[in-house]
Amino acid sequence: MNFDPLSIGPTQSYRLMVGSIIPRPIAWISTLSSKNVLNLAPYSFFTVASCNPPVLAVTQVNPRDRAAKDTLTNLRTTKECVVNIVSENLAAEMNASCADYPADVSEFDALGIESEPGHAVKVAGVKAANVRFECVLREIIEVSTLPMGGTMMLLDVVNIYVNESILSQGQIAPELLDAIGKLGGDLYTTTRDRFEMSRPILK
Ligand SMILES: Cc1cc2nc3c(=O)[nH]c(=O)nc-3n(C[C@H](O)[C@H](O)[C@H](O)COP(=O)(O)O)c2cc1C
Repeated sequence: MNFDPLSIGPTQSYRLMVGSIIPRPIAWISTLSSKNVLNLAPYSFFTVASCNPPVLAVTQVNPRDRAAKDTLTNLRTTKECVVNIVSENLAAEMNASCADYPADVSEFDALGIESEPGHAVKVAGVKAANVRFECVLREIIEVSTLPMGGTMMLLDVVNIYVNESILSQGQIAPELLDAIGKLGGDLYTTTRDRFEMSRPILK
């Protein structure tokens, strides 16, 4: 079966993409508004854009009812954020934080989520997150300004916090991080089913 994106439209294209581009890691992003309100929201259109320098990429799916979501609005004005990694024990709070709270309400306060001051940025992160990437806005790329179009945020990583309790032999142990990923619809996955493969060496 083949689908022409122009014929099926953006909603069906979205469903095919979020159903097949899985599992997606979740950037649980804290930002500060111009009025100092500490915002928190999950974004699963999230990946690494560069390691040298370290840069993260997150995409806003443009809302239909307003120019931008709070995260992008805040990044445009205050330029900093913390990308908190979501372990399974934080899943319910992460999900609750995606509700459409007004810009003057902090999800931290509304949901009783404990914050931790940033090390290199003014924005606080989620205290219970075992990994926190502190970032400064590098660039905003408006891939499409249409509703459901994408606005990509490129974020320079300026500090990486790792809780020592998730390290094993100096490396992050996936079973200790216990990160969750996003599938299509309302489905999520854990990282508990793992297998190993060495990369091939051509002789
Ligand atoms: C697990 C999860 C992943 C999400 N990923 C995205 C995403 O990648 N892009 C996006 O625009 N919205 C995404 N959303 C929806 C936003 O979190 C939601 O619109 C939220 O209200 C935005 O908050 P903000 O206005 O405080 O930025 C996701 C929601 C959940 C629960």
